[in-house]
Amino acid sequence: MNQKGGVGKTTTTINLGHALAREGKTVTLLDMDPQGQVAMGYGVQDDQSGLDEVLLNDISIDASIIEARENLDLIPAGVRLSDFEHVSAGGLKRGHKLRLAMNESSLTQRDFVLIDCPPSSGLLGINAMFAADELIIPVSGDYLSLQGLSRMMQILKRAESLSGHTIKLWLVMTRMQMRRRLTQEVRGRVLKYFPNRVFNTVIRENVALAECPSFGKTIFDYKKKSAGAEDYQSLAQDILQGRTS
Ligand SMILES: Nc1ncnc2c1ncn2[C@@H]1O[C@H](COP(=O)(O)OP(=O)(O)O)[C@@H](O)[C@H]1O
Ligand SMILES: [Mg+2]
Repeated sequence: MNQKGGVGKTTTTINLGHALAREGKTVTLLDMDPQGQVAMGYGVQDDQSGLDEVLLNDISIDASIIEARENLDLIPAGVRLSDFEHVSAGGLKRGHKLRLAMNESSLTQRDFVLIDCPPSSGLLGINAMFAADELIIPVSGDYLSLQGLSRMMQILKRAESLSGHTIKLWLVMTRMQMRRRLTQEVRGRVLKYFPNRVFNTVIRENVALAECPSFGKTIFDYKKKSAGAEDYQSLAQDILQGRTS
């Protein structure tokens, strides 16, 4: 999650998910962004129902599972997901819909469930936070990212107090242009504010990562030898081993 758009949330969900699945872990991706880019990134038709029906009409999650790769399946956003942001009935209970649906589904058996969030802190984001044990914030190497981070911390604290459970926080540096001084400066600051919470691996800016969704391919389908594939494979190892800097 990150309220800022374009920081690599969707790219990370797609490629980290595939990296974990390639390590033999069972992975499900949930697309909570109405733009529906997770299914597209896997070359799956995005015109079917998915989390929209789960949240709007209480259809079970298991009815919408699409197998996408070995060890990896996904629940698409569905064309009506944005309608859920405008649901006004139900008070705070509306925030727990995803968590309850997940608890009643086969997702409880999976090693990893990754939720791709929209760039907003509305009802969809709240549902994601209430359902999650851990939160990964992608941070790109510019100053506006740092500003967005303090806002994210406020949202996290609020979600924790409303839901009564703590959410483990992680950060990952994304879209990094290693030769830029600004990039190093931003990374330095993030490490200072969040010691032991920033994953070791830095995701470099890599053109293959931007190209592959248009072919319905992850970076591992598209260019296994690219910097992007190397970085997301390494990030998966960070997660499996708890490696931070
Ligand atoms: N490491 C990267 N290198 C190059 N392009 C990237 C990288 N990460 C993301 N992009 C591109 O940047 C844009 C925004 O990324 P995206 O993952 O959609 O961000 P978000 O989901 O946070 O809005 C997309 O066009 C994506 O292909
Ligand atoms: Mg996105």
